[in-house]
Amino acid sequence: MERHAAAGPGASKAPGPRGPGAGTGAPAGSDKTEADGGKTEVIVAIVTEPQFTQHCRKFLEKHQLLDKCHRVKQLPNGTMALPVLEEGLTEQHLQILRQQGLPESTCRLTHVLNPLPSKKAQNRSPTQKLRQEVRRLVEGQGRVWSAELEKDLPRSWQRHGDLILLNEESFRAAHWKKLEPGLWKTVASALGGQRLAKRGRVSPGGTRAPKVTLLLGAHGWVEHVDNGIRYTFDVTQSMFSFGNITEKLRVASMTCAGEVLVDLYAGIGYFTLPFLIHANAAFVHACEWDPHAAAALRKNLELNGVADRCHIHLGDNRKLKLWSIADRVNLGLIPSSEEGWPTACQVLRRDTGGILHIHHNVESFPGKELQLFSSSEAGQKEQRAARNSERQTPAKITKLEWLRWAEAVAARIGVLLLQLHGKPWEIQILHVQPVKSYAPHVDHMVLDLDCRPVSCSSGEVIGKAERSCDQGPRV
Ligand SMILES: C[S@@+](CC[C@H](N)C(=O)[O-])C[C@H]1O[C@@H](n2cnc3c(N)ncnc32)[C@H](O)[C@@H]1O
Repeated sequence: MERHAAAGPGASKAPGPRGPGAGTGAPAGSDKTEADGGKTEVIVAIVTEPQFTQHCRKFLEKHQLLDKCHRVKQLPNGTMALPVLEEGLTEQHLQILRQQGLPESTCRLTHVLNPLPSKKAQNRSPTQKLRQEVRRLVEGQGRVWSAELEKDLPRSWQRHGDLILLNEESFRAAHWKKLEPGLWKTVASALGGQRLAKRGRVSPGGTRAPKVTLLLGAHGWVEHVDNGIRYTFDVTQSMFSFGNITEKLRVASMTCAGEVLVDLYAGIGYFTLPFLIHANAAFVHACEWDPHAAAALRKNLELNGVADRCHIHLGDNRKLKLWSIADRVNLGLIPSSEEGWPTACQVLRRDTGGILHIHHNVESFPGKELQLFSSSEAGQKEQRAARNSERQTPAKITKLEWLRWAEAVAARIGVLLLQLHGKPWEIQILHVQPVKSYAPHVDHMVLDLDCRPVSCSSGEVIGKAERSCDQGPRV
């Protein structure tokens, strides 16, 4: 059994590389830096004769001193340089190696310039790469790698082209401040990016401003191509919701040729653009009160060549000066778009009515799934709705809460339209679409409501192509 002094307090640190032929000419104590951006990487290695390489490697592995990120290198004089984790290495370790038979002449430290990464390092996952490189940076500055730092590393991030967006749960420890700005270069490069930003908490309130701080790079503008549509926006000002993809695809599959649409919560154009480009809407009135989002929306309309079919209404949609103009209204705001319902009713065509797409976060609880769906009254209602739906295969309303919510919204919209126009409207649930799970037992849902005025003479519902007897001027 080996006997050696522990690398604890009082254990002397192994001296840096020294003596003739020691290493490659890098000055002792030179900074260890990332090999990207043209900088030189320098690591420390133990030199030994080739026949002692295996023994030395086993010893280093056993004491967790082997730097597994780099390859063993043969030096010009035929000796071998084994990369070591410098921080834990003490003079006692070297002494033990010598006692175990390594020749005094070669059992010494050296510097290796630009070492080759080991096979293992080449196959590292981004998370492993990040951990190893940040750890090396921390230790290279003479600081101790702690469990607190380890826990504070990001586990997930968003990639927006060359910009990496970290979540709010990472790099919160005060310690990181001392490693800036080099830290951000290391993080960005480990994750394969050139710019880096970090998300704060989404601020409460209508704008859902993401509070993102740019850590590395000159600006936060990024571009995405999604279902053939180009979106650009500044990540420090607006957010891109990857989770809405099912709804964006559903919107893209709709047929809205010849229709006028009002998008009450347009953002950077997540729905405005698919409505214009894929669903072929004739014209979109896009409402947005955040100037940054509106600026991105304007760019996106131009990027996609549809700026002439959209008007941006910058301001609070509750004060929108449009009446009886829309064949369709999109209300894409969660947790609730309820504050926009009066405006949605106001802009809906009073002669023919139209369709509302109402977003909402609906709470539900396990064990309350609808049973025997198709034979129940609810099931028949859904089947009727499905027959009228624009889609061939509508999602089933599989949760009782979804159905209750849809019915409550339909009733409320009916009342709003009755109050607005002084006559009844027929409100039909066309479709109930789960978009994503927002939180445990909370689903982001979209309800498609068909809203038609009832003809005053016959009591019949006025279809899209028909006109009611009291049609007012279209504004
Ligand atoms: C969550 S984003 C929705 C963007 C897109 N509809 C989606 O679901 O991905 C909501 C947008 O509505 C805007 N907004 C919220 N309340 C508004 C209001 N009263 N008037 C105009 N815009 C509003 C916000 O600024 C934000 O850009």
